[in-house]
Amino acid sequence: MIYIKSEQEIERMRRANIAVMEILLKLKEMVRPGLNIKRLEEKAEELTGKKGGIPAFKGYNGYPYSLCVSVNEVIIHGIPDNRILSEGDIVGIDYGILLDGFYGDAAITVPSGKISKEASKLIKITREALYEGIQKATPGRRIGDISYAIQSYVEKNGFSVIREFTGHGIGKELHEEPFIPNYGTPGTGIVIEKGMTFALEPMVSIGSYEVEVLSDGWTALTKDRSLSAHFEHSIAVTDKGPEILSCL
Ligand code: MF3
Ligand code: CO
Repeated sequence: MIYIKSEQEIERMRRANIAVMEILLKLKEMVRPGLNIKRLEEKAEELTGKKGGIPAFKGYNGYPYSLCVSVNEVIIHGIPDNRILSEGDIVGIDYGILLDGFYGDAAITVPSGKISKEASKLIKITREALYEGIQKATPGRRIGDISYAIQSYVEKNGFSVIREFTGHGIGKELHEEPFIPNYGTPGTGIVIEKGMTFALEPMVSIGSYEVEVLSDGWTALTKDRSLSAHFEHSIAVTDKGPEILSCL
């Protein structure tokens, strides 16, 4: 079942998502060589409390932390343990909160100090792939149009899309229907309608799209240990086209 949101509900989702993005930008400013990534988790919780929200990931399917911090070859669900960032790392930060009954969810990938040319191209292409997908979220198009736009943009630029994890509907639940793969065929899947709200989240690797999950049950990394990046926005479908909710 896909839950269509009213304008009032979308307004509440705007507030949750803007709060998430404000927190992510604060965390981004902290990223540098020498930082213990546990500090990001602590800061996220502190800022969420100040906004009157609740971290969305802690306890979700048993995930033990509020934040996901995915460094280099880690694709998503990186655990914010005591890792110290090095010069040249790329750091995926994924965060979600529950505020006033609605979820916000967004992710960015940021550099720690000076990074390689290849790493910055990966970050750029992943961010752009997200926007390619967002542009297709208009009434009358289909989910497969979003998937295809992301995949074709990534592959045109010589990288791979991760297939094991997908974007998703979002709203009163962190994950709602529909699930939105980052690869697919145009003209397939359900028809997109006004009032649908999605979290689109391309995950891209320089090498192959094969995934391995560590014995902690969470950390998902590329099997070939190639670098991987992740961006995510929550969006609403409106008459006029897509609106990015997690946008300042
Ligand atoms: N942004 C991710 C997602 O939408 C984060 C979920 S992590 C989890 O699935 F711990 F909550 F599962
Ligand atoms: Co998500």
